[in-house]
Amino acid sequence: MKTQDPYDNEKTRRKIEAMVEAEERYLAALRRERLESEATPLRITGRRTFLAAAAAAAGIGGLPRIAGAAAPPGAVERPVPADPTKVQGTPTNDDGGYGSRSQFESEARWRFGTPTKESSWTMTPLEHGMGIITPSGLHFERHHGGITTIDPSRHTLLVHGMVEQAKKYSMADIHRFPSISRTMFIECSGNGLTEWSKPTLKTVQGTHGLTSTSEWTGVPLALLLRESGIKPGAKWVLAEGADAAVMTRSIPLDKCLDDAFIAYGQNGEAIRPEQGYPIRLMLPGWEGNTHIKWLRRLEVSDVPYQTREETSKYTDLMANGIARQFTFVMEAKSVITFPSGEMKLPGPGFYEVTGIAWSGRGKITRLEVSADGGKTWADAHLQGPVLPICHTRFRFPWLWDGKPAVLQSRATDETGYVQPMLKQLTDVRGLNGPIGSIYHLNAVQSWAVAADGSVTNVHA
Ligand code: CO
Repeated sequence: MKTQDPYDNEKTRRKIEAMVEAEERYLAALRRERLESEATPLRITGRRTFLAAAAAAAGIGGLPRIAGAAAPPGAVERPVPADPTKVQGTPTNDDGGYGSRSQFESEARWRFGTPTKESSWTMTPLEHGMGIITPSGLHFERHHGGITTIDPSRHTLLVHGMVEQAKKYSMADIHRFPSISRTMFIECSGNGLTEWSKPTLKTVQGTHGLTSTSEWTGVPLALLLRESGIKPGAKWVLAEGADAAVMTRSIPLDKCLDDAFIAYGQNGEAIRPEQGYPIRLMLPGWEGNTHIKWLRRLEVSDVPYQTREETSKYTDLMANGIARQFTFVMEAKSVITFPSGEMKLPGPGFYEVTGIAWSGRGKITRLEVSADGGKTWADAHLQGPVLPICHTRFRFPWLWDGKPAVLQSRATDETGYVQPMLKQLTDVRGLNGPIGSIYHLNAVQSWAVAADGSVTNVHA
């Protein structure tokens, strides 16, 4: 496919500047929160704790709600007794039967600075991640027409096109099929799009937060397609969402008959609205955009449909002006989450460097860490379970001598593919427009540790 400069350079530059400003405002708010925390007698949390502690000290004690204090998202604000052994705790099941996280935990998704909130995305705070599962409420989002609200009792999935018999399934029908569960990552192919030509966003949430892992439960797509019977000559399936953008992608039939499934569950409960409630197409290892949310239609065909999302978007413009199309697989990638951008190491000594690695082609088999900008590498420990097409946690013991250092991680997957250095990748892909070829940036990430312990995003 020949394209003619699809990027309005000036417009794109302005967009990126707006993103950088948005991140700066977000970080400034976090820094203010941190400063307030340090000003409290408890020195551990924010203003909320201070007020609650003050109320408790004034003899108000156990129960009254602190006026004006807001809990972080997903938490419920409760008074904090000065001595928790002297008052009864919160009554059992007082949460209505659905729990919340601690009011002292406030990590949240961050919305990228797009002009509208409906066509936008949020990023997972990877720097706070533990293990390999992303909490459902922190799973990254990408929406093109907002989050649609669907009554499952009225939702149907139509299978038609080049099939022997078109069928329409209710959610009850879909739940009657044999099910599978699979713990896997989804990564937006735009993850890192600001980072092609220069280090731009400051935190790992900004540079890498468009990847998340959940356990997904649903029905193998092959079962549904075989129920309808596929006609000879069929090669593609159009998947369509029921959102305001009517998101559509053409998917090769082979993938649909291989490991594709339709998920209605996420981390042991119904899939979240922002993840496609009541059903979402799952294509293990493929770019996030193909995992059509709010799935309502599958049309079997002999050719791809050339939708907006596979022509003007989600194609990769090369240096020679030719765009690669249908680049589905997310290649091996990794990132150090501790230490990472905006953190500050308190001083020389021992640190456990940790992060995540993943590959759309299978299992991670090796993870190397460099502390000298890629001159020397050493193997990190891969923490089990190491699952195919899934975030894999790695750990690496590091004795920091207090001198400036550059930390990097490099993943290898079971096909033998080694995560490229940035220069290796841009030598092949080129740097088109002000931000490179946008999608599929899977190069090694570099974090510089300065002598004062501050960590920044660099290109090394
Ligand atoms: Co692609």
